This record gives sequence, structure tokens and C-alpha cells, in this order.
Amino acid sequence: MRKAAQIITFANIKGGVGKTTAVTNIAYLLGVTLNKRVLVIDSDDQGNATKALGVRDLFDRNHETLWSGLSRKVGYEEVIVESPYKNIWVIPSTKELKAAQNEFGRSARGLKLFKHLLKGVEKDFDYVLIDTKPQINILLQAALAASNWYLIPSFPEPDSYDGFLDLVAECEEIHEEENPKLHLLGVLINSVKKIPAHEQYLKFIGKHLKASNVNLLKPFVRVSNAVATGNLHACPAVSIGSGRSVKDDFLKLTKTMIKLAEVKKPLRPNLAKLGVLKEKQADERNWGLKDSDLDEAVDLL
Ligand SMILES: Nc1ncnc2c1ncn2[C@@H]1O[C@H](COP(=O)(O)OP(=O)(O)OP(=O)(O)O)[C@@H](O)[C@H]1O
Ligand SMILES: [Mg+2]
Repeated sequence: MRKAAQIITFANIKGGVGKTTAVTNIAYLLGVTLNKRVLVIDSDDQGNATKALGVRDLFDRNHETLWSGLSRKVGYEEVIVESPYKNIWVIPSTKELKAAQNEFGRSARGLKLFKHLLKGVEKDFDYVLIDTKPQINILLQAALAASNWYLIPSFPEPDSYDGFLDLVAECEEIHEEENPKLHLLGVLINSVKKIPAHEQYLKFIGKHLKASNVNLLKPFVRVSNAVATGNLHACPAVSIGSGRSVKDDFLKLTKTMIKLAEVKKPLRPNLAKLGVLKEKQADERNWGLKDSDLDEAVDLL
């Protein structure tokens, strides 16, 4: 018998922190490199994952989207589209998805949207990766209500942790009230530069996340020009020749995720300790940076 699909929601209330980059590159590695069957759900009306996985041109104006599937209450089989990449299927989105928030709001019915859509998904897929909009809204809550895991992508900068505590508190509430299977897989750090400011900040954040019972996923993903090249060509960075370093990082990270997702007793984040992190990180004197580190960072840039 097939194992249950691992359903993972990628979320961060802060925008532009690498959520879509993580979803699309990890999907490519799971599907093409590791031969797993993957469904990517683009739950962001910007449609960035739809574009990055090369399906925007494949579905014509009348093709089903996440919104048409949710509003007609059909199963995933009716709205998926095959991507050009082996083993990867997508539920695409366009800006019409914005209507979902007005239509459903926070309601018991709204919270069941993804559960209904994904009923029986394990017979076709090993992994379902859900890309989300940087906002706590009904689509995020419904995705969390149907997931086994949530994963928080971020950059090694304090702005990435704006709203971090609110997001984890929201997810913990959904764990308590809606979906006891939901757990935090960890924090994924993307776009790391070899500068002392990043190194020091990562040490600081690593120490506090550990104290808060939150996994900091390793390795970190280094900054890479291949990500911008991939964006221009509408394909994942790991699929192009110049993306060797980013492929290396994302592949090791994907293997870390697979292992962690098999853990029987996942960690529960300590919200009080995350509150301490929130206070401390607001002041860079707490990060352990020396004046000389700052000078060196400027030189390197
Ligand atoms: N490893 C990396 N190297 C270089 N650039 C990166 C890397 N990861 C992400 N980026 C860039 O950072 C920007 C934000 O990434 P991305 O679109 O994945 O973030 P997001 O969290 O999905 O944004 P949004 O909240 O708007 O959906 C993009 O321009 C992307 O190309
Ligand atoms: Mg995005």
C-alpha cells in the first residue's frame, strides 16, 4: 500500500523571502532527481509558482485553476495540469484567486477547502507542496488544516522574522483546534552570502531557534545568480547548468526534509521562547556582531 502523502505548506507572513523559490526548486529535485510524485499547489494569486514550473503557457484561459476547483468543490484530479518536468503536476493560479478570500472568509467551511480538494491524494502523489501568499488568510489557514507540515522559508535577515511569532502561534492554534497532524518541519534559510553579518546573524538565530524547539534546516541555501536566470527563463534554478551550487544546497536540504518528515515525534515550538527571540533580534547589539565584522561586510559587498 502507498504511504500517506506528505503535505507541506510553505509559509511566511513576510513577502519576498524565498517561499516560491524553495517550493519550485524542491519540487524539481523531488520529482526529477529523486523520482517522487509531486503535486505543487500555487495558492498565491501572483501565480509565481505556476510560472516557474512552466505551466502558465500550457493551460489556456479555460483551464481549471485552484480557484475554479475550490469554488466548484471538486477533487484535485479535475484541476491538475502536468508540468514539463518528470513527475511534477501543478494546480495553477491566476489573480482570480483573490476572490477566494471574500467568498469564504474564516469559517468552518473555508477551513475545509483544501481537505476536500486533496481527499485521496496519497493514491497519486508522494509529496504535495503548497506555495502561499505572505499573509494570514483563509487560504493559508485551509492549507494548514490539510497539511502534515508547515515550513518557514526566510532570508538571513531580521525582516524575515517579522510576524514569525504570529505565524507560529496561528499554526499552533490550527494544530490544537483543527488538525493535530500539523507540525513545524523547520526554518529554511535561503540567499545566504558569505559575509560576517550573515554568519553572525545565523549563529544568533540558530541559538534562539534551538532554544525554542524549532529545527533550523541544514544546509543553508547560498545566494546564486542562477535563481535570477531561472526567473527570467521561467524555470527552477536547479534545472539549469549554472545552478550547480544552488542545486547542491537544495538537494542536501531536500534530503534533510525527507528524513525529518519521517520523524515519529515532531517538535512543538515554544512560543514563550520565540517571544524572547522577537524582542532580542530587534536590536542588532544582541547578534554578537563586532564593529570589524560590519567593516568587512561593507568591503565584501
Ligand atoms: N538563493 C537565492 N539566490 C539569489 N536570489 C534568490 C535566492 N532565493 C530567492 N532569491 C530571490 O529573492 C526574491 C524573492 O524570492 P521568492 O519570489 O521566492 O520569494 P517569495 O517569498 O515567494 O515572495 P512572495 O512573498 O512575493 O511570494 C526573488 O527575486 C528571488 O529570485
Ligand atoms: Mg512567492
